[in-house]
Amino acid sequence: MHPIAYHHKYMRPRDYGKKLLARKKKPPKAGKAAKVAAAAAQRGSTAPRSPAAASQRDPAPPARPVRPARSPRHTEDSAPPPTSASPGAKKTLDRILSKAGLGSRTEATDWIREGRVKVNGRAVTSIDMWIHPKRDKVTLDGAPVREGAKLYILLNKPKGYLTTYKDPEGRPTVYQLLKGVPGFVGTAGRLDMDTSGLLILTNDTSFADFITSPISHVPKTYLVKSSSRLSDEQLESLRKGLNLEDGPTRPAAVTRLRDSEKYTHFEITITEGRNRQVRRMVEAVGSKVLKLVRVSIGPISLAGLTIGAWRELTTAEVRSLVAIREKEEAQ
Ligand code: URA
Repeated sequence: MHPIAYHHKYMRPRDYGKKLLARKKKPPKAGKAAKVAAAAAQRGSTAPRSPAAASQRDPAPPARPVRPARSPRHTEDSAPPPTSASPGAKKTLDRILSKAGLGSRTEATDWIREGRVKVNGRAVTSIDMWIHPKRDKVTLDGAPVREGAKLYILLNKPKGYLTTYKDPEGRPTVYQLLKGVPGFVGTAGRLDMDTSGLLILTNDTSFADFITSPISHVPKTYLVKSSSRLSDEQLESLRKGLNLEDGPTRPAAVTRLRDSEKYTHFEITITEGRNRQVRRMVEAVGSKVLKLVRVSIGPISLAGLTIGAWRELTTAEVRSLVAIREKEEAQ
């Protein structure tokens, strides 16, 4: 059986946008929810896993007949390397290693540079290599690499943590809070260091791209404390949409929660998630954000999850997010 099996749906964020736009013209596909929701099994340790461990825990998908070598003259060691140009249905090698749950893309890049990764029996040290996930045989330290089980993690991020994997300045990152998560997961979008609250992490890049893409319109709700008391007109401007340097914002749902003498506490739901969007919107109406907490993404909320803790999303929760995607694609 082929050691790796990937979904064609995985693509870079920009490709996801293109695909989403293209799909709007087509009738929706049935059965996607079931596919994506078949995930989130309970498992064991957070250290980058060996391919052997990954394949032990994640039984391979149903067997596919192996294609014979592309030429009977080629043994594994003499097989031609995969083509390195035109992406097409191909994926970059670092992405494939990361998606297999073995580590971050940065780590994968190091392994490639160190010559520990082989494609069709040949060491590949170029990080620009594109490979055909279904056809090319990838190994790390000699062990076959195959896609890991899907993981969907919900973290209640504390203020003061970065959402990057490693910080050159040694500041804390959310990865230090993920002890026990069984495999590498990437963040589905980012929260500023000073923002706390709901963060989804997953190894399902298509799902992450959907959550993150501004064109997906997944609602994200934040509690905000502003540095000044905001008038009804200022809140109305946030609601209607503002001109930011990267374009106008979409209408937002804004609810005043309470005012003190100097501050306003309000809730805002945006459907884009551009970089530092809430902070920039509040600045655009002449105030500043003093406190920002993301409390929900679509129907997923932080309820019951203490600050700094994580849990796996339930199948029903993953499904509920996928349902937004299907609805969007159907429009
Ligand atoms: N908007 C912001 O300004 N910051 C965040 O972290 C998230 C949304």
